[in-house]
Amino acid sequence: MAVLDQLTSQQAIDLENKYGAHNYHPLPVVLNRGEGVYVWDVEGKRYYDFLSAYSAVNQGHCHPKIVDAMTQQAKTLSLTSRAFYNDKLGEYEKYATQTFGFDKLLPMNTGAEAVETALKLCRKWAYEVKGIAENEAQIIVCENNFHGRTTTIISFSNDPVARKNFGPFTNGFIKIEYDNLKALENALSNNKNVAGFLVEPIQGEAGVYVPSEGYLSKAKALCEKYNVLFIADEVQTGIARTGKMLAVDHENVTPDILILGKALSGGAYPVSGVLANDAIMNVIKPGNHGSTFGGNPIAAAVAIAALDVIKDEKLADNAERLGQIFRKELSDFAQTNDLVKLVRGKGLLNAVLINDSEESETAWNICLKLRDNGLLAKPTHGNIIRFAPPLVMTEEQLMDCISIIKKTISEF
Ligand SMILES: Cc1ncc(COP(=O)(O)O)c(C=O)c1O
Repeated sequence: MAVLDQLTSQQAIDLENKYGAHNYHPLPVVLNRGEGVYVWDVEGKRYYDFLSAYSAVNQGHCHPKIVDAMTQQAKTLSLTSRAFYNDKLGEYEKYATQTFGFDKLLPMNTGAEAVETALKLCRKWAYEVKGIAENEAQIIVCENNFHGRTTTIISFSNDPVARKNFGPFTNGFIKIEYDNLKALENALSNNKNVAGFLVEPIQGEAGVYVPSEGYLSKAKALCEKYNVLFIADEVQTGIARTGKMLAVDHENVTPDILILGKALSGGAYPVSGVLANDAIMNVIKPGNHGSTFGGNPIAAAVAIAALDVIKDEKLADNAERLGQIFRKELSDFAQTNDLVKLVRGKGLLNAVLINDSEESETAWNICLKLRDNGLLAKPTHGNIIRFAPPLVMTEEQLMDCISIIKKTISEF
């Protein structure tokens, strides 16, 4: 069947429902164009994007510099696999390692793959450098974590929907409370087989849960004390989203293993990666790990351009400045509106807590009304709405968005 010239929103939704697996519950809006902070639906209505594809589109939709890099490279050489060298990968690896301050990069495609890579790297280091007995390595993770959807990653999730009927699961993980240094020290001091501590600097999917100040730096110090790798999953928080290049930069923490994804490509292409110094990364030898697409020339060219945009346009500073305005305006609004309990976040990764139960539909219904009023956001839970616009937003656009959000919530 030929694709119709222009589907209506309902036709597009019907097609997805009939022919696609129902593994998501999208907000009913069908987009077909994006530019900067805006997206348009198939009927031509314009919206502010306040999700940025879960913080992948930090550089804004269809950034010309990123699109140029991608199309140029696509016309030149797209994929060689790592069976051969290509002339873009090394250049990208040099640029990324210098940008983030590590010796080496291992390139992958999606966030979950990068997390898997970090877990494998950590385990191999544990056996070959730390000297843990084979198959005994443990990795500490946090409750309410979100690191992706693979079988190993959901093995240490505590989201019943993500886990139910997907077992048996992978062993070797110890779960502790997030933002609890005592729990971390307990887990570290009671067990010589701990190899790593995997943590999100802010728990994004859990509802933009920002840990207490000092948590990350003290957790890193504890990891050093016990010779355990501090693994930062910055897939959602990284690349300027929280007002610094990395969220760990707020506490001057250098992770032993850094996991990046999403905005590493500005959302133009699946690009993820793991960074570490030689003492860790050199345990990986040919055949230990890989991916047909990881490190392909398009990904490399796109990632260089995406990082350039972050630096050239000073997007971390913009996120920091606009984030302050967003939280101040909505905190003031919360004083006058019973439905808004509180606003929290860092930079332009924020959440508004709705004064209702986790099971309620209120946040979803507010998101439907926001859509009607020209702004797209999505609940992370029944009562939490995440607000994460592209970082190229101007103050004027932000003020417009804040007034849409206030007006919409006031109507409830
Ligand atoms: C912190 C974190 N890690 C990993 C992932 C998984 O990334 P992907 O969906 O690209 O596999 C996500 C996705 O939201 C994430 O937020």
